[in-house]
Amino acid sequence: MLRHCTLALVALAIMCAPVHAAEKYVAAADCYWPPMELLDANKQPTGYSPDFLKALAKAVGIEIEVRNVAWDGIFGGVATGQYDIVSSSVTITEERKKQFDFTDPYYEVVQAVLLPAGQHISSLKDLKGKKVGGQIATTGIFVVRKADVGAELKEYDDVGLAIEDLLKGRIDAVICDDPVAMYYVNKKADTAGKLNISFKAQEKESYGFVVKKGRKDLIEKLNKGIKLLRESGEERRIAEKWLGKAD
Ligand code: ARG
Repeated sequence: MLRHCTLALVALAIMCAPVHAAEKYVAAADCYWPPMELLDANKQPTGYSPDFLKALAKAVGIEIEVRNVAWDGIFGGVATGQYDIVSSSVTITEERKKQFDFTDPYYEVVQAVLLPAGQHISSLKDLKGKKVGGQIATTGIFVVRKADVGAELKEYDDVGLAIEDLLKGRIDAVICDDPVAMYYVNKKADTAGKLNISFKAQEKESYGFVVKKGRKDLIEKLNKGIKLLRESGEERRIAEKWLGKAD
């Protein structure tokens, strides 16, 4: 009887022992930056970076949930601890590095200038006197401002609104990261064929994941994951899925 009881207790203890749950982190993404971050038909985050983070989490044995958060203010939320990571195609810049910590680079882009199909420029100087739109406080806006060519900048909450204005003739050009420009030129049903990428800036930019300063543990996990995905070929698979085959 005693023996029976002990066995039963042991079994119960095993059954009730807490399963070692994977550490869980929350990442914020502004899902209006296709194909890097967008919403699927059920309004769930999808795209290159959500897929990348999902694979990364699996590779290092953690869980990462991606939430859609507006770009304007997205950095504030990581500073106040509303979420752990900003995963929103954020270019690593010296200015931003003063306030936040970045992982190693995970994707490279350049700025691309979109014009209505059939129109062309050959340098940023040709934007003189033109109305140029882009997403507020993005590196595209910074590049035009820095070039100081006498363009009139219009900053939008969302690059899609800038493109809408471009197609309606309310502005003359839009600047954004090149994979996003490509998506509007080739993939997005209502804009494909109506635009062209007329100019690309030379300076390469690297995307990094953003965390609150000092979160070394998390940076280490993310960097390990970035490395593992590169080595396993998973990174290439995700890039092919969302960005097409590299030539
Ligand atoms: N790479 C640019 C930057 O860091 C634009 C990023 C915008 N991302 C987004 N999901 N809206 O400034």
